[in-house]
Amino acid sequence: MLELPRAKTIIEPFRIKSVEPIRLLPASERDRVIHEAGYNLFKVRAQDVTFDLLTDSGTSAMSARQWAGIMVGDESYAGSPSFQRFETAVRGLTGFDNVIPTHQGRSAEFLLMQALELKAGDVVIGNTHFDTTRANIEHSGAEALDLPCPETADTQSNAPFKGNIDLEALSLFLKKNAPRVRLVIITATNNSVGGQPVSMKNIRGAQRILEPYGIPLFLDAARFAENAFFIKQREKEFQGKEVRDIAREMFSHCDGALMSAKKDAFGNIGGFLAIRDPALAEAVRNLMVITEGFPTYGGLAGRDLEALAIGLEEILDEDYLTYRIRSTEYFGEGVQAAGLKVIRPIGGHAVYIDAGAALPHVPWNEYPGQSLSVALYHHIGIRSVEVGSVMLGSRNPTTGEERPAPRELVRLAIPRRVYTQSHVDYMIEMIGHLAKHLGELRGYAFTYQAPVLRHFTAKFTPLA
Ligand code: F0G
Repeated sequence: MLELPRAKTIIEPFRIKSVEPIRLLPASERDRVIHEAGYNLFKVRAQDVTFDLLTDSGTSAMSARQWAGIMVGDESYAGSPSFQRFETAVRGLTGFDNVIPTHQGRSAEFLLMQALELKAGDVVIGNTHFDTTRANIEHSGAEALDLPCPETADTQSNAPFKGNIDLEALSLFLKKNAPRVRLVIITATNNSVGGQPVSMKNIRGAQRILEPYGIPLFLDAARFAENAFFIKQREKEFQGKEVRDIAREMFSHCDGALMSAKKDAFGNIGGFLAIRDPALAEAVRNLMVITEGFPTYGGLAGRDLEALAIGLEEILDEDYLTYRIRSTEYFGEGVQAAGLKVIRPIGGHAVYIDAGAALPHVPWNEYPGQSLSVALYHHIGIRSVEVGSVMLGSRNPTTGEERPAPRELVRLAIPRRVYTQSHVDYMIEMIGHLAKHLGELRGYAFTYQAPVLRHFTAKFTPLA
């Protein structure tokens, strides 16, 4: 037997059985498309995009096994065997008995907040709530409080667990306000701060703090497997452990979980709530009949449940996770080497470019993130999303006065199992060319904006 060295190249651990063409439009064509879209990438038709990095949500490539699952999905209204398989998969993963499917993550959030009967004055704390979570908390009348760890403030430090919740701030807040705190949610990985992981130590710490007060801890598990893999890589105690067992332990410290299955379940649609407390689960089941449907299908088809049960298995494949985390990092390193500052360390599902640093000549109220994301489409065919003052800035409805977001970022989210390394190399190469012209990019002004969630429908004009 020959002793060859281990390959340095990490391969996509799958081969491709079914393909979709992507179009390389000429830049002149994209010029027309982006102008007609009012310089808003949400208004661009997907077929006019070459690399769609708008989101990693619902955009995964399903496996042959998942497609086979679709064919055997059972569409019985009640008690479908597909539900039973889904329930078994979620129970096995989370250890929670009460498994409630929902049509996506935000409906799980809605049902949970409603079932808790939150009211004005109540607080729901998070390591940083995702925007739909925040919206659902606020919609229920309660306050959504973010307590990210201090390490997130420095985007360039390589701290290993920048997704953590600030345990000191949590303890301090509870000393004065415990009776008002109804729930704590740890989002793993923490999407809003760059897809950064949460350590097991941090989850255990949060549980220890909350237990004496009887405040429930929930895991937003949208990207639980990516988080578990980071724990294996970065937390000594877990180096030799299986990712599946690490994930199980993450859930074991919590009282329940909510998940958008459009991420780490390789689903194109779906979500769930998994809850330890039978009374809370009962309240959710009673509520959901009004909006989601019967509790054994929760707004999904039986075939969806079947595909998700299989996806939850596949996501824990360590060859897949090695490829997933390394390929995102490879992309981030390439973008950085091409001359753009990115959030460090590179997160699990996306690369976040610091557009404020890239375009110092464009002030925040001329939207450097918008400018860079339009340029990425216009010149390369990449669809990204601005996460800066267009999306997160606020506007006083009476005075029209604007407030900036904390950072001007552009997110390049990577759909799972969709793009190959040569796609990524192409993007890195072209971003390198674009980086030489950043000084020529101009800011934008709104020509239309809706009063809420303006980034979806806004129109812009480039400034001279
Ligand atoms: N929680 C997290 C951490 C998320 O990232 C998302 C969605 C949700 C909840 C809501 O789930 O979309 O199924 O209703 N994130 C997507 C994104 C939209 O692009 O980051 P959903």
